[in-house]
Amino acid sequence: MSIFSPLQLGALALSNRIVMAPMTRSRATADGLPTEVMVDYYRQRATAGLIISEGIAPSENGRGYARTPGIYSGKQIKAWAKITQAVHENGGRIVAQIMHVGRIANAVNKALDSETVSPSAIRARGKMYTDVQGMQPFDEPRALEHNEIAQVIAEYRNAAESALSAGFDGVELHCTSGYLPAQFLCTGTNKRTDNYGGNVVNRARFVFEVLEAMASVGGAQRVGLRICPDNPFNDLHDDDPQQTFDYLLQEASALDLSYLHVIRFPTGRVDNIAIGQRYFGGRLIGNESYSFDEAEVAVAAGELAAVSFGRDFIANPDLVERLQCGKELTAFDPQTLYTPGAEGYSRYPPAGV
Ligand SMILES: Cc1cc2nc3c(=O)[nH]c(=O)nc-3n(C[C@H](O)[C@H](O)[C@H](O)COP(=O)(O)O)c2cc1C
Repeated sequence: MSIFSPLQLGALALSNRIVMAPMTRSRATADGLPTEVMVDYYRQRATAGLIISEGIAPSENGRGYARTPGIYSGKQIKAWAKITQAVHENGGRIVAQIMHVGRIANAVNKALDSETVSPSAIRARGKMYTDVQGMQPFDEPRALEHNEIAQVIAEYRNAAESALSAGFDGVELHCTSGYLPAQFLCTGTNKRTDNYGGNVVNRARFVFEVLEAMASVGGAQRVGLRICPDNPFNDLHDDDPQQTFDYLLQEASALDLSYLHVIRFPTGRVDNIAIGQRYFGGRLIGNESYSFDEAEVAVAAGELAAVSFGRDFIANPDLVERLQCGKELTAFDPQTLYTPGAEGYSRYPPAGV
């Protein structure tokens, strides 16, 4: 099996096993509307076997970073439809990564009538960028009331419905990097005493209810799950990530999801790829600093079904062709990762141009 061979992942038919990893690029408007440069950017990368979109907020409360997109208004859905159409016209597949940031937010980056919420009222240590006031501390979150959790889950369901109606081929739950689902899962951010906190069964309840809600729209075969056990990003800590993810993945494997997307983390306490293989076998997408050769070996050995590449796609829109033909990869400019407009975004040409 080669990284260039086709792959069926649940309902998703991929023409090759090179996946574009989700990357927040802050090219939406201040109020979360996708822009024209995003149409160009995603179209240019449609030769990936699958594009996983940047994190998309299911609600205004779920937005935290400057100029990140949402999918909770009719205008946003229409704007995403242009993007999915451009990808499909160029033979690609694209899923929407649904990302609710929870406590990883600053009020300056979101609407005045929105709130920063989390399982418990524990502020994350650290700062985040805002356009108006530069670096700012994370908000002090408000702990969700028990009866509000169903509403947040409904936001995910609605986001999945809106994504499919906008032409996305599926949805991926962002369940790592310190955002809301990870805040529920981990002991450091979840001090609840109701049935969403405490033991692992309770801490994982939110994630399952969200996955089930997302799957209720177009079937589990259109839903992927992204994890990175023991990821400390955004001040995340879990006392026993092995236990947490053993339970999570064992139960999640019964849902018959499209795929599991695993970020490896060699210095962590869990062998993330091994635990993914154990529960998701042939439906595993691996990620994080894979070289082309390493990806080829992992796919040929059946260790991974596919490999996702993030940073390599930034300056190499035609990454698949470059890998296939052994062409040089272009390095990206870190200064323009999150700046508005086409520069450092949709202006990277394909090789030979
Ligand atoms: C600019 C940038 C933005 C990112 N945004 C997201 C995101 O929105 N959602 C997500 O799950 N991961 C995000 N990531 C992580 C990437 O998906 C990926 O895990 C990481 O880049 C490692 O893969 P690589 O070594 O192939 O680049 C981001 C990474 C970068 C470089």
